[in-house]
Amino acid sequence: MGRLQDKVVLVTGAAGGLGRTHCQRLAEEGASIVAVDICRQIDSVPYPLSTPAELKDLVDEIEGIGGRIMGREGDVRDPSSLRQALDEADQEFGPLFGVVANAGIASMVHGKPQAWQDVIDVNLTGVYNTIEAAIPRMVAAGQGGSIVIVSSTAGLSGIGGASAGGLSYSASKHGVVGLMRTYANNLAPEWIRVNSVHPTGVATRMTTDNTIMEFVANDPVLSREQPNAMPVLAVEAVDVSNAVLWLLSDEARYVTGVTLPVDAGFVNRR
Ligand SMILES: NC(=O)c1ccc[n+]([C@@H]2O[C@H](COP(=O)([O-])OP(=O)(O)OC[C@H]3O[C@@H](n4cnc5c(N)ncnc54)[C@H](O)[C@@H]3O)[C@@H](O)[C@H]2O)c1
Repeated sequence: MGRLQDKVVLVTGAAGGLGRTHCQRLAEEGASIVAVDICRQIDSVPYPLSTPAELKDLVDEIEGIGGRIMGREGDVRDPSSLRQALDEADQEFGPLFGVVANAGIASMVHGKPQAWQDVIDVNLTGVYNTIEAAIPRMVAAGQGGSIVIVSSTAGLSGIGGASAGGLSYSASKHGVVGLMRTYANNLAPEWIRVNSVHPTGVATRMTTDNTIMEFVANDPVLSREQPNAMPVLAVEAVDVSNAVLWLLSDEARYVTGVTLPVDAGFVNRR
């Protein structure tokens, strides 16, 4: 028996980076995954978002190890695409138990004023849309549940730099903490827990893309940011996925309203 055996879990931003690792880790523990990803570019994002081929590849991989997954193209800015994926999941897998609100973008470069709104729309409003789509289904199922929001160390400290996209990244990642705390109170009577995880740097396209690396290296604020307290430059995606898994599992059955850093001591050091 896996730690999430036969539990249905929605993962947004599933086709790339951390989302992909969450899907792998949750499927290994027996979850049935509803994998949603935009699978196309947003103009103000300076690195590539995932493609339909990458979402298909994820589905093939999980099915290849005997896991249950359905992949759907959907944009967290568009609530109807989320509701449609969840309707189909209900038919295919049964009632929804969990949510990993993971989809996010970072546009920490200058000269992209639209980045402010795009980052807020995806990272903050997108999390709200995701949870709002899930709540009626989770409540109707009457089996409790667990919602995990992927924030950032930038949701607990004033990092992000001075660009429109950097400021909105930090604002959005703080904003989801407000959502998390309020939903945790609202949903506790339904036995639905809500928590956030706050990773330090992880080597995904969001951080390793040349444009982003060059910008960070040359930015007077970002290049000054001290590294993690522990002597590692970055954590692995699976370290974040393991925290997500724990928060979804019964092992965390009385943990709600918590901001959990997975950050090698970064926030504590501020
Ligand atoms: N990589 C890091 O260092 C780091 C650190 C802290 C927090 N985070 C957070 O982790 C989460 C995952 O980031 P990542 O590093 O894996 O980035 P990534 O770019 O590798 O993956 C993000 C995924 O989200 C998808 N996506 C983007 N916009 C979407 C939308 N509107 N609707 C649906 N899907 C969308 C992309 O296609 C991509 O597959 C984000 O919320 C990010 O802010 C990342």
